Amino acid sequence: MSELNSIVLKILSNGKGILAADESTATMTKRLDSVNVQSTPENRLSFRQTLFSSSSMSSCIGGVILYDETIKQKIPDGKNIPELIQSANSIPGIKVDTGAKILANSPNEKITEGLDGLRDRLKEYYKLGARFTKWRGVYNITKDYPSKLSIHSNAHALARYSALVQECNMVPIVEPEVLMDGNHSAQDCLTKTSEVIKKCFEELILHKVDLTGVILKPNMILAGAESSNKISGSEVAKMTIECLKSSVPTEVPGIAFLSGGQTEIEATENLNLINIENKTEFIMSYSYGRALQQSALKYWSKDIKDIEGTQKVFNHRAKMNSLAAQGKWSKDLED
Ligand code: 13P
Repeated sequence: MSELNSIVLKILSNGKGILAADESTATMTKRLDSVNVQSTPENRLSFRQTLFSSSSMSSCIGGVILYDETIKQKIPDGKNIPELIQSANSIPGIKVDTGAKILANSPNEKITEGLDGLRDRLKEYYKLGARFTKWRGVYNITKDYPSKLSIHSNAHALARYSALVQECNMVPIVEPEVLMDGNHSAQDCLTKTSEVIKKCFEELILHKVDLTGVILKPNMILAGAESSNKISGSEVAKMTIECLKSSVPTEVPGIAFLSGGQTEIEATENLNLINIENKTEFIMSYSYGRALQQSALKYWSKDIKDIEGTQKVFNHRAKMNSLAAQGKWSKDLED
C-alpha cells in the first residue's frame, strides 16, 4: 500500500469522515454575522478550537480541512492547531485554492485559481503538518451550463493541483461541486455531474495522478433547490451511486460528499441511504462543512464560553454522520 493510499484510509475508514472547517475569512465572517458574533481572529479560533478538542474527533473525524489563517494559529497552551488535531489521532488538511473567479469568455461561470506558487505553498503546509489538501471547482446548472469550457478548464486545474500535491507527498481532495442552486431536475444533475466527474478523471489520468492516493469530494445527486420535483432519499442514493459507478475509476479508494446546502438531517439521512445501497468498493463518507457545524455554531453563539455544551452538540452531529457513513443511522437516534 502506498503512503498516500494509507493516508486516505486513515482519514475515511471505520465510519470516519472529514470536518470541512476551511471557510475563508470572508465566508466565516458571513457565518458568524448570521449568529451575531463578531468575526475576529480570536473568535474564529475559539469556535474552531472548541470543535477540534471535542471527544468525537478521535472516533468520527479522520481529517480536518483548515484555512490558511487557522493552520498557523496557536491555542493558549502553546500548541498549534495541527498539533491539536493530531493529538486526537486525526489528520490536518489544508484548502489550497485561492477561490473561484469569473471564467474569461464565459462570464456567468467560474474558474478556480491558485496554481501560481502552489508548489512552494505546499512545502510550507507540509512543514506545518498538513497531509492532505483541498481544491474546489464550482459549476452551476442551467440550460447552457456548465459549458464545455468550464468543465474542461476546471478539470485541468484540478489535475495540475493534484499532481503537485502528490509530488509533495500529500493526498489531494478533488472537489468538483455542481451547485444545487436552480430549478433543474435530479436527472439533469445526474447527467451534468457525471460529465464533470468523468472529465476530472480524464485530466487526472493525463497528468499521471496516482488515483489510489486521491479523495473525490462530489455533490450528491439532487433536484435543484428551487425545483418543484424533489426526489426521495432513496432516489438520491440510487442516482448518486449510479453517477459515481459510471464516472469514477475503481482505483479511487474513497469518496467524501460535501453537504452543499442540505440541512443537517438531510445530509445525514442521504449519506445513510447511500451506504445502505452501496455495493461498490468505494468508501462513501462525509466531508461536511455546514452539515457538521450549523447547530454547534448556533449553540456556541448564545454563550461562547460554553465549550462543553457546544461540544455536546457537535459530538452528536459527528456521531450521527459516522453512523450514516456505515449505513447504521436511523431517525430515532436524533432525539
Ligand atoms: P458544505 O458541506 O457546507 O457544502 O462544505 C463543504 C465544503 O468544503 C465546500 O467546499
